[in-house]
Parts: sequence; structure tokens; C-alpha cells
Amino acid sequence: MRHILTPQDFSVSELDSLFNLAADIEANPKKYANACRGKKLATLFYEPSTRTRLSTETAMLNLGGSTMGFSDASNSSVSKGESVADTIRTVSCFADIAAIRHPKEGAAMVASQVSGIPIINCGDGGHQHPTQTLTDLMTIRSLKKRLNNMTIGLCGDLKFGRTVHSLISAMSRYDGIRFVFISPDELKVPDYVIEMLESKGILYDEVIKLDDVITRLDVLYMTRVQRERFFNEEDYIRLKDFYILTRKLMRKAKNDMYVLHPLPRVNEISVEVDSDPRAAYFQQVQYGVYVRMALILTLLGIHVNEDGSVTEKTV
Ligand code: NCD
Repeated sequence: MRHILTPQDFSVSELDSLFNLAADIEANPKKYANACRGKKLATLFYEPSTRTRLSTETAMLNLGGSTMGFSDASNSSVSKGESVADTIRTVSCFADIAAIRHPKEGAAMVASQVSGIPIINCGDGGHQHPTQTLTDLMTIRSLKKRLNNMTIGLCGDLKFGRTVHSLISAMSRYDGIRFVFISPDELKVPDYVIEMLESKGILYDEVIKLDDVITRLDVLYMTRVQRERFFNEEDYIRLKDFYILTRKLMRKAKNDMYVLHPLPRVNEISVEVDSDPRAAYFQQVQYGVYVRMALILTLLGIHVNEDGSVTEKTV
């Protein structure tokens, strides 16, 4: 059985197949409309979410399957003290695949060790968020027509942002990638990520001012300051508006420098930027549905033939 806990669970060539499948789904949605008929997705969300949960559910519904789950753990037996492991053992009896988001790092891994069904990690604390990364890569690939040879700037909360950690580890597998990390000192990329880059000889810069580097970037990945992971509110208030991407700043950027953001946005991108053709963050949401459809099919071992019939294989 196959799970996705980090983007590394898929090789670069498997990712390529996944993105090709997602592109075929985008081009021929009808072909896939019944691919998961009779299959059930459980969404177990112990933390708030709009996009990830609804996108994963939409993906299953678009494939003709159905969904169940909770979006607020206080309504589930978790409030009675049930462990993640026991919850997932139970859910394995009901559903064919489960998507889980949890505030603790490693929760999805714990779930996968006892699960009878594939687990999709939809975010474990400040650690990883692989399906957001699949979304990000699919967006970059579709807009830039490549995933190699580019300078990617990541800006904002690089310490607590799990989407940042997943994206760096995924992008570091492509040739010719150079990272520019843009953050205040307190929110720098964790040491373990820097050590990984250094061990692979991947080039990176760490800077504080976006203004100084924006002209060099091919992709700018903005993030919000992760309020819920701060130990005190004062630090959050001091850092929350450290970066605000404005139309004025966008004038300095390349004509084909796309702006991505996992969303939700708070203040870090001014709404005046939304009408800039390089603002790709809402397109990104749409790509997230195609890529999650491709992921569900892959984890369930469902191959869709040209006529829409399906072949199931054991994964
Ligand atoms: C992200 C997350 O939950 O980590 N959101 C998302 O899933 N698109 C980013 C964030 O909350 O800042």
C-alpha cells in the first residue's frame, strides 16, 4: 500500500507521470468522471482548512466517488481522548483512502503505520504539506513549461511554513535550481533544510529584503506568517506585516516572474497585485484539484483507459 507523507515519497519520474495524468484530467475531465465510482474518501482534519480539504473532496467527487469526515476534531471522538492511531484504524473500515491534517509533526506517519488504506498527508504541524507541493509544482510546470533551471524566491515565514519545507525538498531534486530565501532573521529556513541543500551542493542565498532580489527571480513564492505556530502574540504582531508585495514592487520583477502563494493570504500580497497577469495564486488553486485527482487515482491503483473504463491494480 502506498501513502504520501512527503513529496519524496514519489520519485521525479513518478511525479512526471502524475503531472502528465493531471494535465490529461484537465484536458479530458469527462473521461475521469466515473473512475472512482463506489470509492470513499475520508477527510480527517484536526486543523482549520479551506482549500486543502475542499480541493481533496472536490477531487474525489469529480472522479465519481464520495466523501465523509470531520473538519473540526472537537466533533469527533478525538474530544473523548481517542488517539490518531485508533481513529485511523476505525476509518480504515469505512473508507478506501484518507486525507489527514494534524497540528503535530509526524501525525500522518503514525497514521500510515497502522492504516489499512492509503494516507494523504494534508499537513502535519510545521513539517510537510506534500499535496500543496504537488499543486505548486504542477502550477510552475504549467506556467513556466519546466521545473529545472530557475531561481525561486521563497518569502515570509520560512521557519514554520510547512509548504515551504515541502517545496524546497521537492524542487531540490531538479537540475539548475537556485533558491533565494527572503525572511526576517527570526523566520529563517530551519537548519535541517539548509543542511540538506549543502549536502547536495545546491545554491541558495538568504536575504532580508525582497526589494533587493526580486529582479532575479523566475518564481516568487509568498507565504503568510504562521500565527498559530508562534509562542507569543507580540512576536507575531511585530512580524506579520514584514513583507507586503505591491504593484510598485512588481514593476521591478521579470515579465514572466509568476507569484505563487499556498493561501490563505493575510496582508502579504496587496489585493492590487491580483489583476497582474503574473499573479498565479488562484490558478494554483485550480491546478490543486487536477493534481489531487491524479494522486487519488495513483494511490488507489486505478488506471483510466481511453474510453473511460478502469483497470485496478494492487499498488
Ligand atoms: C497552507 C497550510 O495549511 O500549510 N495552506 C494550504 O493548505 N493551502 C499555508 C498556510 O496556512 O499558510
